[in-house]
Amino acid sequence: MAYPSSRPRRLRRTPGLRGLVRETTLSTRSFVFPMFIVPGRGVRQPIASMPGQFRFSPDTAGEEVKRLHDLGIAAVLLFGVPDHKDALGTSAYQKDGVVPQAIRAIAKAAPTIVIMTDVCLCEYTDHGHCGLVEKGEVLNDPTLELLAKQALVHAQAGAHVIAPSDMMDGRIGFIREELDDQGLESTAIMAYSAKYASAFYGPFREAAESTPAFGDRQSYQMDPANAQEALREVMLDEDEGADIVMVKPAGPYLDVIRTVREHTDLPVAAYQVSGEYSMLMAAAERGWIDRDRAILETLTGIKRAGADVIISYFAPRAAELLR
Ligand code: PBG
Repeated sequence: MAYPSSRPRRLRRTPGLRGLVRETTLSTRSFVFPMFIVPGRGVRQPIASMPGQFRFSPDTAGEEVKRLHDLGIAAVLLFGVPDHKDALGTSAYQKDGVVPQAIRAIAKAAPTIVIMTDVCLCEYTDHGHCGLVEKGEVLNDPTLELLAKQALVHAQAGAHVIAPSDMMDGRIGFIREELDDQGLESTAIMAYSAKYASAFYGPFREAAESTPAFGDRQSYQMDPANAQEALREVMLDEDEGADIVMVKPAGPYLDVIRTVREHTDLPVAAYQVSGEYSMLMAAAERGWIDRDRAILETLTGIKRAGADVIISYFAPRAAELLR
């Protein structure tokens, strides 16, 4: 029956009515906060391209996570930003590297928080690419060995979830096998399955000092025009043993999140990336949009699209707003 019998506004009249029929609810339990870890002690260094975000040393990361955990944040995702970079990304797989140190400090400060770590070489290589480079090409199979070494030191330090973001073919299976061989069969893998070659990683690359010295990442990250291919990536990662699959970035790829949600029974994660964060912060700083409302609206959109796990630099502010 159409108007005037049907009047959708009847259920929008009061906060109580609106609450009663609300379809999507955000929960801090599904939030993951990404953190950049640098060497040293007592470091809390502002990131210029990401106002309100900081680089932490392992000790201050521990203190910060204690605060986040009290806010109800479920998990953190750690990115290492080492002093030393070389062609092989050697700092990525040192037992006492910045990420293993931070894992131990965080586990001590907040024993019940979930610790996830990004596995990729771009923050550790001098050329800024996510794998080994030969004659200007990023090599696939030789890179897998190094990623597995990196995943292993993270898992041995106590990471609960390993999150490979490099987009090499076959890395989920390769890493799974290495972890299992080393008796780490309980460490989970969250695969960056549909990771697009996106302009929205710009601020992150400043934060992590990982801008490629030549070329771009289009030979390994996905073409933004492709949705069908995202399903293929998800199915491959699922077959190789992924426990969680991810779509990244989130906002420009809500349709992909929805399609992936409909095609897998695994939990689906979505990453609201640095550019999505900085864009909103910049507009809010100019008074063009209401920051807090925009935070909740974008996160609700990601949840509504079908994400179970939401990775966002806004996690702490959103947790405050949801209290
Ligand atoms: C590393 C990695 C990147 C991001 C997560 N892991 C950068 C990239 O691929 O260039 C981006 C995260 C963000 O922008 O917030 N490969």
